[in-house]
Parts: sequence; structure tokens; C-alpha cells
Amino acid sequence: MYKTHTCGELNAAHIGQKITLAGWVHRRRDHGGVTFMDLRDRFGLVQIVTNADLFPEAHQAMIPVRAEWVIQVEGLVRERPEGMKNLEISTGEIEVEVQVVRILNPAKTPPIYINKEEEIDEQVRLRYRYLDLRTERMRGNLVLRHKVIKFIRDYLDGRDFLEVETPILFKTTPEGARDYLVPSRVHPGEFYALPQSPQQLKQLLMVAGIERYFQIARCFRDEDQRGDRQPEFTQLDLEMSFVEREDIMTLIEDMLTNLVEQVVPEKKLMQSPWPRFTYDEVLARFGKDNPDVRFGMELVDFTDLAAASGFRVFESVAAEGGHVRAINARGLGNYSRKQLDELAEFVGQYGAKGLAYIALTAAGEQRSSFTKFLSEEMLATLIERLDAQPGDLLLFVAAAPAVVFESLGRLREHLGDRLELRDPDVLGFCWVIDFPFVMWNEDEQRWDPSHHLFTSPMPEDLPLLDTDPGKARGQQYDMVLNGYEVGGGSIRIHNRDLQAKVFSLIGLSDEVAQERFGHMLEAFEYGTPPHGGIAPGIDRICMILAGEPNIREVIAFPKNQNARDVMGSAPSPVEAAQLKELHIDLDI
Ligand code: AMO
Ligand code: AMP
Repeated sequence: MYKTHTCGELNAAHIGQKITLAGWVHRRRDHGGVTFMDLRDRFGLVQIVTNADLFPEAHQAMIPVRAEWVIQVEGLVRERPEGMKNLEISTGEIEVEVQVVRILNPAKTPPIYINKEEEIDEQVRLRYRYLDLRTERMRGNLVLRHKVIKFIRDYLDGRDFLEVETPILFKTTPEGARDYLVPSRVHPGEFYALPQSPQQLKQLLMVAGIERYFQIARCFRDEDQRGDRQPEFTQLDLEMSFVEREDIMTLIEDMLTNLVEQVVPEKKLMQSPWPRFTYDEVLARFGKDNPDVRFGMELVDFTDLAAASGFRVFESVAAEGGHVRAINARGLGNYSRKQLDELAEFVGQYGAKGLAYIALTAAGEQRSSFTKFLSEEMLATLIERLDAQPGDLLLFVAAAPAVVFESLGRLREHLGDRLELRDPDVLGFCWVIDFPFVMWNEDEQRWDPSHHLFTSPMPEDLPLLDTDPGKARGQQYDMVLNGYEVGGGSIRIHNRDLQAKVFSLIGLSDEVAQERFGHMLEAFEYGTPPHGGIAPGIDRICMILAGEPNIREVIAFPKNQNARDVMGSAPSPVEAAQLKELHIDLDI
């Protein structure tokens, strides 16, 4: 071994010991004949000192050494002189008097700071990710991720789950995104699809009698990138036999509650048990099905009053079947015209044609873009429903329901940020249940599954599949944390005929269903147990636990916003010979 101790473990108990360390030079300070350096390894930092009088050779050897050089030193642990101690770091009472130095490898000046916290362009960080990962922040994130996964493995192992690996080269497993395809050399013109999730395989493991399965599974989805999305990401994929919705939700809630207590004890769980909302309720109250429940400012419905409100905008929207809803942004009654215009612009991004407001000043005055059209009685009702106080700002959107929900749901979280209502130390988990089983796809004029093809409808809603599919509910559950969907799952169909019926409801012909999912239909004929499962997104959960703004920060080697690995330059062109072997002609 190159070292007897790690940099981070040394403390007063080691005073007087001769030790050997190896690591990176974190920072260097010269004081005439004495040079101080911080030596860093994965475990921490320790101060090392060379002295030209005491150990001239070592001092000399250290002269060219700069930040990020890799060195090995032998020396003596000694107490730092009084006044030189740094009680903020664990090694701050001691230093190492260097007697022998070996330079293991010099380093060019790194393009990013490792010893300073400084905003650095993310493309540069990603280009030199191996340097970026040396920073305390990124090392901390990798440690956190390791602990999260280790906790999950131990927890599930303790409950008789079996970790089973499933193939990456398989056939299409749709979860609503495009597939990544891999051409086959051996079978010209044929392709594997990388799994969007192990969904079918985990269900087949239930047919196989595994009963309790999990996997830390890599999933691949070719979809538009966002801060909480990556083309490849990791799920805790889990499936159980002989369970109902309640069993899965209870297990996952218990696992995550314990995980938070052990892995991030400094965070506060907002509520236990986690609140549960039906899909209809979550939209009505928060405007989105992945709400941040750490604060109020809930939506209030005025659709019932719109038709007779006297305000032309509300009346015409109501006549077309739209909604009028509002939120109360407490304390923002002093917003200027310009600030209000900015908010209107904000909701405009989500399709709202305007943002009607009533601003109540602290002095009890009112400014409004529309109250002049209302009766006193109507105005009093608005104020009462929104529980408005002097100083509040009431914001109304009138539009088609989906636009009202999205624009106010986003505005609510936007204002929640501004008003600092989204406490980063609090974890607000909740469940959303009773989703519609299918949703109408206007573009393609067909029903889409609201979760995926294998989700079971609520047993009592089965007759609706024939009469009014849009009204049927699915046995799906989503797990939400601080405004992000961090997991989704369902009780599955385990009956062949019902599965075939659902394929046909969403417009898959028998032929296509057979070609794509024949193996599932066939398996269902051989004694399939009732089963269900869930897949929490590990990256999103780690992002929130780490307090990071996007999931790239908790992934060692992520893709950038354009789905590119800028460090290794992937994707990249390949040799013509390789294409030929794969029977591929490019047409760009
Ligand atoms: P679903 O598609 O809802 O369900 O995905 C489950 C969870 O995976 C995470 N996730 C992502 N994370 C990062 N980048 C992405 N591109 C991405 N897409 C999804 C989210 C999401 O909640 N097979 C089903 C699960 C099941 O039914 O058991 C599935 O994959 O946190
Ligand atoms: P207008 O009559 O278009 O000048 O609008 C008067 C006020 O109503 C302005 O504050 C607009 O932002 C607002 N407004 C217009 N359309 C809508 C709408 N669809 N929903 C909410 N407010 C609106």
C-alpha cells in the first residue's frame, strides 16, 4: 500500500506516530523556509509541512509541486502550535511534518477549481468530469447515492426480496418515450430495443414464481431532456406477487421513511403517514399531479360564479366549458404593474391568455384589472373564498381546464420559491391515486394508457371499459416529493383476456399486440399470480435529498441537455466498416 493512513482519519490520537500518506495537493502556501500544503484524498484533508532546516531534501523536492499533483509523503504527526489549530475540520488539531517526499505524478493546472467553491460553466465541468468529481460537493453526492442504494438493498434483502438482473438488450418496453435501438449484426435488419424499464421482465419474474423482486435497474428513454430527466437513468425497480395497492404503498413508505431517518437525519419529513390525494383532488388543489405539498397557496375554484360574474373574459370562458380558478399569493399585494405583467407572462408560457388580479394593499385599498365589472356581492365572495387579507395578491386564470391547472400549478410553485415557502430541509412526500385508466390522445385520436399498458383498471370500473373508458380509474399510484414525481407503479393485469382487451382499447391490432407482446399474453396462460409493483427514480430522489437543482449533479457521468456525453464525445460517428457489418446505410 502507498499509505498507512488516509488524510481524513488523522487526529490528536495520532500525535507522535510516523505515517505515510498519499493523495493530491489541494492547496499550497509558502512561508520562506516553511511550506504548508493541504493534502487531500477521498477521506479528507490534512495539513502537511516541509521545513528547509529540518528536512532539506524533502523541502527541496516539494518546490515544483502544485495543486493536484499526486504525491506520497512520510512524516511525523505533531500537534499544531496554539493559535494555528482549526477546530472546524476533524484533522485541524494536527499537522504532518514531512520527512520524505515522492512525486507520483505531476498535474497540469486544472481547468476548473477543485479547492474553491465557484460557479463554473457546466459544459466545462462535464467535459472534465473526472476533475469535477474531485470537488467536495460532487464527492458528497456520490457518497449520498451510495448510501441510498446500500440502504435500499439492505432493507429489501431483510424482507426476502431477490435482486435479479434483467437484460439490457431486449425488445421494446414502452413507457411513453422513444426507444434506443441497437442493430443486430447477426440478424440483418433486426434491432434490439434498450428497455425503457424492466416492466415486462419483472412481470415475467412474477410468472416465474419469484414473488419478491427488485433491481437497481438502468432504464433508457429517448425523450426531450429536462433537469429531472436523463436518457439513461436508474430506478429501484420492484415487483411483488399476491399483493394489493395498499401493500406496495405501505412497504415503500416505510422504506423511505427509514431511509430518510438513517441516510439524511438532518432532513425533516413533513408528514407521516404521507398524505394521499386522488388525481381529481390533487389537480383541483395544486394544479398538477406532482405537487409540492410543503406549502399552501392552494387553487380555489370560481367556475360556478363565472357565467354570472359580469366580467366578459370569465363569462365567455365559462360558456365554452372552461374553468376559472385563482390563488392567493399572501403578502404580494404591493406588486407593481411591471411585476404583475411578468407574472402574466409567466402563465402565458403555459397557454393562459391573461392573469386577472386583485391586489389588496396593506392600507386596505384595492387595485384590480377587472373588479370594476363585478357587483359588490361578487367581489365579496371572491375575497371570502380566497380568505384574502390586506396585503394579499389574488391571481385568476380563466381557460380550458388543462391550461388553468398547468398555469396556476406552475405559478403557485414559482411564487412558493419567491416567498421562500419551499423549505429545502423539509421532505414533503405524498401519494397520488385513482388516476384515470386511459387519457384521450387528441393528436392520434385514440386512448393512451395513463400509466402503462400493463396496469389494471379498478375492478369496479371494468364495465366502463366498454361504455365510457375515460371514466374508468386505474390501479396506479404515483409517489411525489417536493414537486417531483419520484416513483410510479400499479397493480397489473394478470388475466390474458383482460390484457388483450386493454391492448385493443388503446388501439393495438391483434397482430401488432401479438408481435410486440405475444410473450406476455402467452405467459399469462400459465398460472400468473396477481401482482403489482413500483419504480422509484433513484436519481430524482438523490437529487432532492442532496438539495441539488438537477439530476446531473447526482450522476457520475451524465449526458448534457442535448443528450451528449461531452467528456467522451458520445454519440459519435463510427467506421464505415462497422456500419457495413451492421447492414446500415446512412441517409442524413
Ligand atoms: P415510470 O415511467 O413512471 O414507471 O417511471 C418511474 C420513475 O422513474 C423516474 N424517471 C426518470 N428519471 C430520470 N430520467 C428520466 N428520463 C425518467 N423517466 C422516469 C421517475 C418516475 O417516477 N415500469 C414503470 C414502473 C412500474 O409500473 O412499476 C415505470 O417505469 O422518478
Ligand atoms: P382585457 O379585458 O383583455 O384587457 O383583460 C383584463 C384583465 O383580465 C387583464 O388583467 C388580463 O390579464 C386579464 N385576462 C384576460 N384574459 C384572461 C384569462 N383568460 N384569464 C385570466 N385573466 C385574463
